[in-house]
Amino acid sequence: MAKKALILGITGQDGSYLAELLLDQGYEVIGMVRRSSTVTFERIAHIQDRVTLVSGDLLDEVSLINILREHKPSEVYNLAAQSFVQASWAQPVLTGETTAMGVTRVLDAIRTADPDIRFYQASSSEMFGKVQAVPQDEDTPFYPRSPYGVAKVYGHWITVNYRESYDLHASSGILFNHESPRRGLEFVTRKVTNGVAKIKLGLASEIRLGNLDAQRDWGFAGDYVRAMWLMLQQDLPDDFVVATGETHSVRELCEVAFNAVGLNWEEHVVIDPAFMRPAEVDLLVGDPSKAERVLGWHRDVDFPTLIESMVLADLKILQK
Ligand code: NAP
Ligand code: GDD
Repeated sequence: MAKKALILGITGQDGSYLAELLLDQGYEVIGMVRRSSTVTFERIAHIQDRVTLVSGDLLDEVSLINILREHKPSEVYNLAAQSFVQASWAQPVLTGETTAMGVTRVLDAIRTADPDIRFYQASSSEMFGKVQAVPQDEDTPFYPRSPYGVAKVYGHWITVNYRESYDLHASSGILFNHESPRRGLEFVTRKVTNGVAKIKLGLASEIRLGNLDAQRDWGFAGDYVRAMWLMLQQDLPDDFVVATGETHSVRELCEVAFNAVGLNWEEHVVIDPAFMRPAEVDLLVGDPSKAERVLGWHRDVDFPTLIESMVLADLKILQK
């Protein structure tokens, strides 16, 4: 019989790539979607007839229990969250309810419906915040710098706690930034690649950005969902850092993206204080040795290839 997986957050960037991967592996894929007045299925439109979509919300534990009881998945991937760091200062309580307490609701639903379910929690390098070591690995202490980061630290520790308290197969993937042509337009990589494509086509003349000095360890989302799946195939649950081991500044990101279409970034990027954050994460760079050694994971796509592919994808979308 085909294995059955439930993806919470299937309409998001990672959810769409993970659904593709699981379908390729022969899984039956259930995706939870929340009620909305407009359709939010753009990223999964191409596979919508191959997945089962069910209605539920991280804010509503009863909906989670009912979905687990009805569909009986053997694996649950919690990718659902209020995931935009900047928005977490404007909506700190909603961010906490979703990104922190939402994890407890899922874990508790699993404990109630079927404690044999294997669970993946989407933890984040944002938890390292004001970094206490370079590079960051599974032993680096957390120092979150945003309401989102604080919420993710809670989500991480409640996952560890349910694993230790109730013997759940619950793993936490501490993933560094990962991007793709499906990335939301508000995140800096996609904002830049979309802006570059617009400028190239004469549809815009500038991109307004905040802190150009921030450094991130950027990888490709398609590579990172493989690590999530690998974690749930292990005999024992554990925590893993997933990263490229390289870091680049927002300034370098601009350089690579503008170069891809033969433009000079300095002529088009405008610094706008509106995009500065109340507290910044200056430098992230992860050490993926444990994931490489234990899971046999490796990334295929490097930084310039990733950014250039995003620029090309945005050009295509706009030309359509
Ligand atoms: P994303 O594109 O923002 O997707 C978030 C998903 O969560 C969407 O499907 C969204 O549904 C859903 N969601 C939000 N609130 C919900 C609620 N109350 N109930 C049910 N679903 C809800 O995020 P992503 O980039 O794919 O990231 C996936 C996960 O990994 C997130 O937890 C994120 O925090 C974490 N993470 C991401 C990165 C990264 O670089 N991408 C790195 C580390 C960790 P709608 O479509 O209805 O909004
Ligand atoms: N979004 C955005 N917009 N970021 C900007 C801008 C801008 O105009 N200008 C500079 N930046 C800087 C931010 O200050 C930050 O330092 C960096 O670019 C990256 O910002 P985002 O792309 O918004 O991502 P993030 O690092 O805050 O968060 C992402 O990665 C986390 C993992 O480290 C999100 O995907 C989180 O959900 C994820 O957990």
